[in-house]
Amino acid sequence: MDISEKISALKTEKGVTILAHYYTPLGVHKIADRIGDSLGLSKIAKNEVETDYILFAGVLFMAETASVLNPAKIILSPDKSAGCPLANFLSGDDIEKYKEKYPNIPVVVYVNTTAETKAHTDICCTSSNAVKIAEKIAEEFKTDTILFGPDKNLASYVRNRTNLNIISIPGRGFCPRHNLFKKQDVINARKDHPKASLIVHPESPPEVQEMADYIGSTSGMINFVEEHENDSGYIIGTEIGLMEHLIWKNPSKNFFPLNTKSLCENMKKITLEKIYSTLKSIETPEEAKYQVKVPSNIAQKALLSIDKMIDYS
Ligand code: 13P
Repeated sequence: MDISEKISALKTEKGVTILAHYYTPLGVHKIADRIGDSLGLSKIAKNEVETDYILFAGVLFMAETASVLNPAKIILSPDKSAGCPLANFLSGDDIEKYKEKYPNIPVVVYVNTTAETKAHTDICCTSSNAVKIAEKIAEEFKTDTILFGPDKNLASYVRNRTNLNIISIPGRGFCPRHNLFKKQDVINARKDHPKASLIVHPESPPEVQEMADYIGSTSGMINFVEEHENDSGYIIGTEIGLMEHLIWKNPSKNFFPLNTKSLCENMKKITLEKIYSTLKSIETPEEAKYQVKVPSNIAQKALLSIDKMIDYS
């Protein structure tokens, strides 16, 4: 048996559902029960898992979100050191200072934040629902201003699509992988593949977004490729791992990276070997090493913010 077969057998034996984000390695997609973007996986974790265990193949904030949404389940992370540099831009204390400066203004944060940060907010959003969430929370608070963090590029995306005054907090937050895309990358890629469609994630800089044919979440990008035939191919402006998924699912189509350096080392920490070790640890003293638990006082507050997002999206 190879490692994938061993994982499949073990997850059935131990009663585990494996949820994987698109940025994890392709081998992980192949053994996962469900693959999705941030919003899709949150919804699945909340309502659609029947097993007692969820193994979350993604960065830590995603596993935390699953734990907050479904505290009855045991959430396991194959590598709890898989963090998100974007999440480190905004803490709960930071948010409290912004609230003092801007009283009665709703606080929206991207799901790429810790549970502790989420606990200080009014609502979360993901890249696929950010515009809708911003509009709905503004309507609820009867205001045209919202505090939005921590990704300055996603804030700009929302600002350009609403009539709202979006105050980006802390104003300098970014995903190091998406933020590296430059106008020159687009110029180079368009020169090499002039008729290809350029599709980018909204965490990319505004000047890159402006040049794109489509901007959307990872699921949005996958749907775009499936719904828009282009014999000349697609230039992919997101974490490079999505390319592998697209090639796997669309073997007859052509994909080109916008920049080959856009690799998220944290997502790549989630390997098949670590997934196997995690599964083997179940019901042994080792299991605690992989469990993701959010303190209940934080989880209860974060839940309000995440649940509100799911209700509004
Ligand atoms: P989506 O899953 O919403 O596309 O966002 C992915 C992500 O975490 C980018 O850093």
